[in-house]
Amino acid sequence: MKTAVYPGSFDPITMGHIDIIKRASVMFDKLVICVMSNAKKTPIFTPDERVELIKRATAGIENIEVTSYGGLLADFAKQQGAGFIVRGLRALSDFEYEFQMALTNRKLYPDADTVFLTTSAEYMYLSSSIVKEIIRNGGFVKDAIPEPIAEDVIKKIRP
Ligand code: COA
Repeated sequence: MKTAVYPGSFDPITMGHIDIIKRASVMFDKLVICVMSNAKKTPIFTPDERVELIKRATAGIENIEVTSYGGLLADFAKQQGAGFIVRGLRALSDFEYEFQMALTNRKLYPDADTVFLTTSAEYMYLSSSIVKEIIRNGGFVKDAIPEPIAEDVIKKIRP
């Protein structure tokens, strides 16, 4: 069985993430979406909130699981018996960080390879930070956040 892990901070999940999830879900038998901690970021949503938002936003997509993990991605991938780690690549600026992360994870857990999917052109501009900043300042970008969770995401960022 081909199992892949799609890790991220997902604070919050955006349509860019959904695009990667949809495309990756047909490539593997099981795709485990895992909310993890990025040491450089201070999230707004708790891990449990992010898991719940992802579950609602991905309802109807088959062969996926959603969970969170507080440790190393390599350990989680090993625990899941995953042979693949999925990451979305937006632009050249993502590459250096992603390359370093992929090499580190491979060193820690040689049985998993990182697979990069290029972000669809319509989501190139997107990031969770940009979405939060726009909402915080009273705006809303249509089609940036999955429709089933948009209202709750806005309420949390701009109560
Ligand atoms: N389209 C548009 N935007 C996208 C996208 C896509 N397809 N895919 C990701 N993004 C955006 C996200 O919205 C996010 O925006 P932000 O920076 O404003 O938050 C950014 O690209 C990347 O974030 P995301 O993919 O959600 O997670 P991340 O890069 O913060 O995840 C971890 C990093 C959590 C996977 C990494 O820190 C990790 O593995 N942590 C666990 C501890 C560990 O093992 N550390 C060692 C790693 S070598």
